[in-house]
Amino acid sequence: MRLRNLLFPYYPIRDRLLGLWARRYLSKLNIRKGSASELPPKAIDLALLHRAIITRRPKVVLEFGVGFSTIIMGQALKQVGGHLWTVDASKAWLENTRAKLTDEPVTLIHSAVQVTGMCHRYVELPDIVPDMINLDGPDKSDIPGWDGPPISADVLHYLPRLQPGCLLVIDGRFTNVEYLKSMCGSRWEWRRDDRLRRTEAVLKSVGAT
Ligand SMILES: C[S@@+](CC[C@H](N)C(=O)[O-])C[C@H]1O[C@@H](n2cnc3c(N)ncnc32)[C@H](O)[C@@H]1O
Repeated sequence: MRLRNLLFPYYPIRDRLLGLWARRYLSKLNIRKGSASELPPKAIDLALLHRAIITRRPKVVLEFGVGFSTIIMGQALKQVGGHLWTVDASKAWLENTRAKLTDEPVTLIHSAVQVTGMCHRYVELPDIVPDMINLDGPDKSDIPGWDGPPISADVLHYLPRLQPGCLLVIDGRFTNVEYLKSMCGSRWEWRRDDRLRRTEAVLKSVGAT
């Protein structure tokens, strides 16, 4: 029997404790909530992203999918001296987030999404070498003619330049996780948490496999 199955009865307790920790963690930060019509911030996701930056101290972070994560990661990067590049297809949500930012080191990029075969990618991608990537976009409604779960190939665009130790965080998007695993899985160490709907992967090696 897998350890995960043995531990299963305790997962609700873990999730509850994690939720308490996340709310406490975020109470010291400034999420800058928006209007009631917005999707609310997800405390655990935001706290884990913030903590990942504080502990790993990346200098260049790339994000697909603007939102509260942009604000929280921007605050963490200001603390550690890094920069965040966030790409999104929605001008309205980019402006919504821009209005909530103050002096965080964040560059917001508007880009259309292009469908290429069985996947899609943003057209405008920043020319950077990220040492952390947060994959949480695009929204399905921003992918022209797309029917089904999002399968972004944007991470693959950066693969030749990524260095070992690069952290990839994927919010939900399990079809996308499986796609990326099939394309470059053996180079990464994967940790998928179905209950938190969150996957983390750390790049182990570069070059030919
Ligand atoms: C899953 S959301 C991205 C959320 C963001 N990464 C975060 O964790 O806060 C996907 C898309 O929804 C849009 N969006 C951003 N903030 C939003 C909000 N508060 N409510 C609804 N949609 C939002 C953006 O266009 C974004 O690409």
